[in-house]
Amino acid sequence: MSVQVQSERLAEVVPDALAAIHEVLERHRVTEQEWMAVLGFLTEVGRADEFVLLSDVTRTSVLIDALTHGGDESGATASDVEGPMYTVEPPFRKKIYEEYEGMGDDDPLFVRGTVTSTGGSPLPEAVVDVWQTGPAGGYDVWDERQPEGNFRGRIRAEADGSYEIQTMLPRPYTVPTDGPTGRYLEAIGQHPWRPAHIHFKVTAPGHQTLVTQLFFPDDPYLENDTIGAVKKALVRPVETHEDHLTCDFDIVLRPAG
Ligand code: BEZ
Ligand code: FE
Repeated sequence: MSVQVQSERLAEVVPDALAAIHEVLERHRVTEQEWMAVLGFLTEVGRADEFVLLSDVTRTSVLIDALTHGGDESGATASDVEGPMYTVEPPFRKKIYEEYEGMGDDDPLFVRGTVTSTGGSPLPEAVVDVWQTGPAGGYDVWDERQPEGNFRGRIRAEADGSYEIQTMLPRPYTVPTDGPTGRYLEAIGQHPWRPAHIHFKVTAPGHQTLVTQLFFPDDPYLENDTIGAVKKALVRPVETHEDHLTCDFDIVLRPAG
């Protein structure tokens, strides 16, 4: 049955997709040599495991996120794209990093809030899973100075739905540019920068999983994120205290079904 539904869906979408591609090829009179270069590029993207990255920088991921979650007026926190840097089941820990040489001496940042259902009830069984770049350099997997799994972690909400993670303020970073997607960005003149952000994946029994990102004001790339994923509703102020920073981020999940 599901195969039948899928092939019905394919029969509906594929002819339109092909017609759109053929129309562009015709309009620009694309040559055999150019088309072979396109096929070669896509082959390289596959070999380099960069299809998610390509989907992101062409802003296709943002479009699909909007088509999937847009128009949600339930009051749930806005979703955002996951990107390619998520790793499953990071450790449960409140402080999501270990110190490493070269990390600088920024004050810690406490991100805190409450996880509730759209009806307002707290969700004490919610799990908040976060990942981000370090304060100096990129993700743990790109930055050999960082221990494996650094700036990744999960925390379970308290009985009143509250959560708090200890982290550090991330900085803007460039998406990987050393593969075919990087060459594509350079060729079309698109910069590779993303504004500083923290990724969230939040689950709770009986609720839809929320994948989203938290952004911070005054970032030079808020208005021109290379993957176009910034939503105003996800930008939260950071407060400076004597020896630490805080950022409040309440999270609202939609009941499943
Ligand atoms: C990210 O936000 O983690 C990301 C998005 C696109 C490419 C690489 C990383
Ligand atoms: Fe990221």
